[in-house]
Amino acid sequence: MPDATLDSVRGVAETVAKSRKPSAARDNDRRHVLHPWSSHGTLEPIVVAGSEGACFWDESGRRWLDFSSQLVNVNVGHQHPKLVAAIKAQAETLCTLAPYHANEATSEAARLICEVAPGNLDRVFFTNGGAEAIENAIRMARLHTGRHKILTTYRSYHGATAGAIAATGDPRRWASEPGAPGFVKFWGPYPYRSAFHSTNTAEECERALSHLAETLAAEGAHTIAAILLETVVGANGILVPPDGYLQGVRSLCDEHGIVMIADEVMCGFGRCGEWFAIDRWNVVPDLITFAKGVNSGYVPLGGVVMSEAISAGFTTRAYPGGLTYSGHPLACAAAVACIGIYREENLIARARSLGDEVIAPTLRAIQERHPCIGDVRGLGTFWAIELVRDRATREPLVPFNASGAAESPMQEFAAACKRRGLWPFVVANRLHIVPPLTIDEQSLREGLSIIDEALHVADRHYAG
Ligand SMILES: Cc1ncc(COP(=O)(O)O)c(C=O)c1O
Repeated sequence: MPDATLDSVRGVAETVAKSRKPSAARDNDRRHVLHPWSSHGTLEPIVVAGSEGACFWDESGRRWLDFSSQLVNVNVGHQHPKLVAAIKAQAETLCTLAPYHANEATSEAARLICEVAPGNLDRVFFTNGGAEAIENAIRMARLHTGRHKILTTYRSYHGATAGAIAATGDPRRWASEPGAPGFVKFWGPYPYRSAFHSTNTAEECERALSHLAETLAAEGAHTIAAILLETVVGANGILVPPDGYLQGVRSLCDEHGIVMIADEVMCGFGRCGEWFAIDRWNVVPDLITFAKGVNSGYVPLGGVVMSEAISAGFTTRAYPGGLTYSGHPLACAAAVACIGIYREENLIARARSLGDEVIAPTLRAIQERHPCIGDVRGLGTFWAIELVRDRATREPLVPFNASGAAESPMQEFAAACKRRGLWPFVVANRLHIVPPLTIDEQSLREGLSIIDEALHVADRHYAG
């Protein structure tokens, strides 16, 4: 569709609103639900009626190709029959259980997670999601070291509970400040917008590690319990660390007796074409936090997989933390089935090859056609294009932390994607391309060509 015929954001919103049948679901939602990160007076949620594979649809039957995997969790696609069957079977057998009992689903999920985890990570503490995984990883690091401080990066998201939001580097933290004490921020590597004025990735790696070493010295390395980082930064930009960076972080942790926590809530479980993204660099952290892809979010589940040294600390001393639903049988049965699906359908290798053979070359070709694309980066099925007003200055298409009218160029672009049947994952001045790992190649290519068309809307704001 030529871009001249594209509707404005307002027009798209009106069309969508008119096409909706009034429904009890919508009315009740508008009256009674407060959605995360949203104001209930302005949110216009679509009412999703169903989903399958890489698609979902609303009550009027309007379909979208899900290039967001919802919140980057539906790794095996929507309504995978084997996953649905496993949850049904578990529901017939044992729906719920206090976490001090053992049961087959939880034990098997833990065994499988340890089997795919790197190195000597051999015991799992289960939670209901990512933020609680972070809270517990922090608690474990503090107990293990007897120290308090936690170092995290500015460009990070770790969740919205008290400790996790204090650990978070992005602006979502601000409203919760002053928050929990003992969190210190540093800059991680980001070659496209280097905090260190680097001109190449090798330099970025070296300078980011020197900066971290200096931060450790200034904070007192002996006061630091953990360095917590997203192996590949997710919501803050799909920032793939330069080769050598994670190895460097591991060495600094070893040198100073600091626990290394890899937050793989978003990037783990196949998303990056590895079981855990950190496998790509052959680094073994002390703790990995996971959620989302562990069971594709069909039932809430997260957790921490820990090293033998950390788990040894709780051999005779009780772990001072817990949750009513830790190791929930339904969620764990879904994890067992999901890990089975990753294996049977060879999805880890598939994510890697979709990234290398389809997404990377197509996005690079699209970049040639659209001046507004400043950077293309990612791996596996975890990609971002970063939109700019000017390739030379790299000025972002919308300012940092923009809202309202200031973010309208990105909203227009998102609306152009939705209008063409693609559900995008838009954050700040970026589009994240994060479809299910099971998406068929034709749908993936179709989705990428929708993005190609919709980018004409963003090009209009290019000023370079
Ligand atoms: C890297 C990372 N850590 C933690 C979280 C928090 O997970 P949850 O929303 O399940 O609490 C998220 C959520 O997106 C995340 O991306």
